[in-house]
Amino acid sequence: MARMKIAVLVSGRGSNMQAILDASQDASYPAEIGVVVSNIAGAPALQKASDAGVKTVTVPHKEYPDRESFDRRVTEEIEAAGCELVVLAGFMRLLSEEFCEHWRDRLINIHPSLLPSFKGLDVHERMITAGVRFGGCTVHYVRHEMDTGPIIVQAAVPVHPGDDSKKLAARILEQEHVIYPLAVKWIAEGRVRISGEVVKVSGAKAPDGALVNYLE
Ligand code: GAR
Repeated sequence: MARMKIAVLVSGRGSNMQAILDASQDASYPAEIGVVVSNIAGAPALQKASDAGVKTVTVPHKEYPDRESFDRRVTEEIEAAGCELVVLAGFMRLLSEEFCEHWRDRLINIHPSLLPSFKGLDVHERMITAGVRFGGCTVHYVRHEMDTGPIIVQAAVPVHPGDDSKKLAARILEQEHVIYPLAVKWIAEGRVRISGEVVKVSGAKAPDGALVNYLE
């Protein structure tokens, strides 16, 4: 069966892109990366993608007079590569309402918190300051308002005594690399549907029981 072609939008390191790339090395994985688009020239993610033989495009946002014209150029690149799903992986630019509507229900993001808690930037630092006992990450469909949209999958990790933002970020990132390839797989398998603004995944199971964590 033909694999679903996806576009990955990046601005930096690209470890989530790499996790999806690694998963797609297995021929039975139902998606493949058709193009990687970055708004930042020289982003490390671009080198990682080219090393794997994936087409890369840089669209420097500074060269565009407004958000809409930048976003339209990005859409052109995604469509030229024949991609059906847009995957934001550390893409640190807000997208226009026009872009979000054009790609509605075909645009996903990963965020390093258990949304709807801790939207925005500096999330790890803010979680530690707030004294939460669990952090985590969320893969969600994108709506225009920042870090909102139907949740596809989340992973929770404990906050340990003595954690700093670096340690917590590393613990969460490990789980990001698990759930992002999983969400893309479910979508490519046609198992994900949005009902109201809630995602249902057919055939997915949730473990029973409760988690308790305390900081001594
Ligand atoms: C990841 O932790 C991702 O969750 C976060 O940026 C990092 C990118 O790392 N995204 C956001 O904060 C979006 N609001 P990566 O480039 O190594 O995948």
